[in-house]
Amino acid sequence: MANFPLPPNATVGLVGGGQLGRMSALAAARLGYRCHILTRETDSPAAQVSHAVTISDYHDPVSLRAFANAVDVISFEFENVSAEGLDLLAAMKPVRPAPSVLRISQDRVAEKSFLNGAGVATAPWAEVHTLTDLEASVQRLGLPAVLKTTRLGYDGKGQAMLRAPADLAPAFERLSPKPLVLEGFVDFACEISVVIARGADGTMSAFDTVENRHSHHILDLTLAPARIAPAVDAAAQAIARRVAEALDLVGLLAVEMFVDAQGQVLVNEIAPRPHNSGHWTIDACPASQFELHIRSIAGLPLPPAVRHSDAVMKNLIGPEGLALWPKALAAPGLIPHLYGKDGATPGRKMGHVTRLFPRGALPGDLGIEDALRALA
Ligand SMILES: Nc1ncnc2c1ncn2[C@@H]1O[C@H](COP(=O)(O)OP(=O)(O)O)[C@@H](O)[C@H]1O
Ligand SMILES: [Mg+2]
Repeated sequence: MANFPLPPNATVGLVGGGQLGRMSALAAARLGYRCHILTRETDSPAAQVSHAVTISDYHDPVSLRAFANAVDVISFEFENVSAEGLDLLAAMKPVRPAPSVLRISQDRVAEKSFLNGAGVATAPWAEVHTLTDLEASVQRLGLPAVLKTTRLGYDGKGQAMLRAPADLAPAFERLSPKPLVLEGFVDFACEISVVIARGADGTMSAFDTVENRHSHHILDLTLAPARIAPAVDAAAQAIARRVAEALDLVGLLAVEMFVDAQGQVLVNEIAPRPHNSGHWTIDACPASQFELHIRSIAGLPLPPAVRHSDAVMKNLIGPEGLALWPKALAAPGLIPHLYGKDGATPGRKMGHVTRLFPRGALPGDLGIEDALRALA
């Protein structure tokens, strides 16, 4: 088993080959580690900047064993490894965050049960197996409501908005036979998130609460810090700590939350990995979410997650986003990031830009629009 802290030149194994793995691998390289990526994709964003790659699906035992053999610690940028796959990896090398944490975040019902059990509020919800369940749950939770697959959803995939009784049957038809969960629709004032790292010794470092704006269910903008009342901010930070502790997390965790019209904070979902709403930390913080990810799993000291600047992050999504790349490169003040993906399909995250402001000087909406005008 590995000795922590991992010494220089040790190998970090990362499951998943996307942009989160790419940016984690870049942070690992700066700390003197090599990364070995496990991914299904050839020429993945993460493998392009890493020392080694195993190309395989996430359940082939032979590949999982070869991968585990080659690394000193295993972490994730993609969480949906099968239970058997996780057990196999954990039997060979330290897996951080632990398989138990991934099992909770992989399944919306397990996640909401865990959160509520830890005293953390969510939207009202109900498990749905049949159309009759759905009808009964809608009676209880009311409309509008959101029907979601319990597993494997991302960027709004595997979801249906229910506005009227006539929406129930077609939505159920489209999403079943997968296990489903119904959530009451939260008429939120804003969406916020907190990214927090926790070490094996229980030390925690949490970035400031940020505001997230989605377009077509995909993150479009992150504003750091969130422009929320101090009490809401305090509640969000307390929730992130409570969740990290209750999970006994070793690693990085993002907590997505809704702030409702009364200022109540409800958790939407959690992700035990770097998160799109933390990309601004690369440019606005001495140690980014990716550095804290690597530090926490490698057993290195966790610095405080402070920011030296305020920031706005804008995603470059799909063909339209990629078409903005020359402008992102040319505009003074925009910090461009491109992920190395070769096909810009609609909705695919191709890159992002960050715009920094002096700490305390994040402008209002018109100022933000102005700061990103070069991309308009
Ligand atoms: N219960 C809900 N009430 C209001 N908006 C929701 C609800 N569930 C999801 N949404 C909207 O859809 C987005 C994506 O849903 P989420 O559950 O976070 O799934 P994903 O795994 O796709 O990120 C949320 O960020 C939010 O904007
Ligand atoms: Mg989400």
